[in-house]
Amino acid sequence: MITIPDFVQNLVPYKAGKSIDELAREKGLTQIVKLASNENPLGPSPKAMGAINNYISESHRYADPLCHNLTHHLSEIHKLAPEMIFAASGSDAILQYVIMTFSKEGDELLTSEGSFIGWYVNADKLGRKSVKIPLTSDYKYDLKTISEAISERTKIIYLANPNNPTGTIFSSKELENFLEKVPSNVLVVLDEAYTIYVDDSLDFPNGVNYLRENLIVTRTFSKSYGLAGLRVGYAFAYPNLIQHMFKVKLSFEPSSLSQVAAIAAISDEEFIAKTIELNRRSLTMLREKLDAIEIKYTDSAANFLMMIFDSEELAKKFTIECLNRGLILRHVDTFGIPVGVRINSGTDDETEFAVQAIDEVWEMLK
Ligand SMILES: Cc1ncc(COP(=O)(O)O)c(C=O)c1O
Repeated sequence: MITIPDFVQNLVPYKAGKSIDELAREKGLTQIVKLASNENPLGPSPKAMGAINNYISESHRYADPLCHNLTHHLSEIHKLAPEMIFAASGSDAILQYVIMTFSKEGDELLTSEGSFIGWYVNADKLGRKSVKIPLTSDYKYDLKTISEAISERTKIIYLANPNNPTGTIFSSKELENFLEKVPSNVLVVLDEAYTIYVDDSLDFPNGVNYLRENLIVTRTFSKSYGLAGLRVGYAFAYPNLIQHMFKVKLSFEPSSLSQVAAIAAISDEEFIAKTIELNRRSLTMLREKLDAIEIKYTDSAANFLMMIFDSEELAKKFTIECLNRGLILRHVDTFGIPVGVRINSGTDDETEFAVQAIDEVWEMLK
């Protein structure tokens, strides 16, 4: 008989939500609005779509395993040597590669509770031990307690800034203080998936400015660039870290179409400006409604916010009742926040639909 390692036995397979079509059919709904995965409501960058069309006839060729053109573009934009850049199929894949490259089965990985589920899943599936420090009462990372929890067993520390699902951030000073406390043999992963959404008026660190021998910064094309389905993410780090990550990377990822789309998207400034503007407008509408009906929510700097309910049961009911009206949200119990429900920004129409549904549901449940 084939034996399955314990850490694999204990994994829970990804449970996909209902498809939009399925939900519409089952509930007899004419409109479904999905604000559950922090995607870009504007769709993909138009420049990226153009690039895919132009390149599709080359799809019989394998993708460039070194992502030469993409890394050179990113290197110019971020003023970093190309050897300091690593691209793969989404930052989720990069997080997996970081864990594979810099730790081994049984090693301890330190992070926060109430943070990105993808990190937890990658740690679990590779048989690493996660140590999770609770969030503060205002749903921020407790960086002081995280730094105090570093032990000889700690191999990697994961921090998302802004954090998902809370959207909360830590400042440049907080990051500097934290990094000073981390021994040089412990790797810090700074996940900046939502960095483009952070308002310029906030004191927010750009990870590129903090690179050092034990820091990796990750970014993604899935959110602000609208390319979630194409799976492109990238990382910055010193070349002596990047070179080892290439050893575990699947050779031909991201796909060739994903690489050309990412190159086009990164220079689509008009699209990014529209994305940021729409996000601000949508979240303002959502906050105004939540304030009016007295639903609490986190102080988010990203393209989503997390509503906070008095109990897990209420958060669950709220999510289900919104779903019954065609509004798909994310109850973030699996992220470690049973009282939280996340909603991301939408188009004007989607946001109006969401505001209406939230209003009706809250009227019924409160
Ligand atoms: C904080 C954070 N990091 C990484 C990811 C993964 O993004 P990607 O689509 O690049 O794998 C997400 C996606 O939700 C995220 O929220």
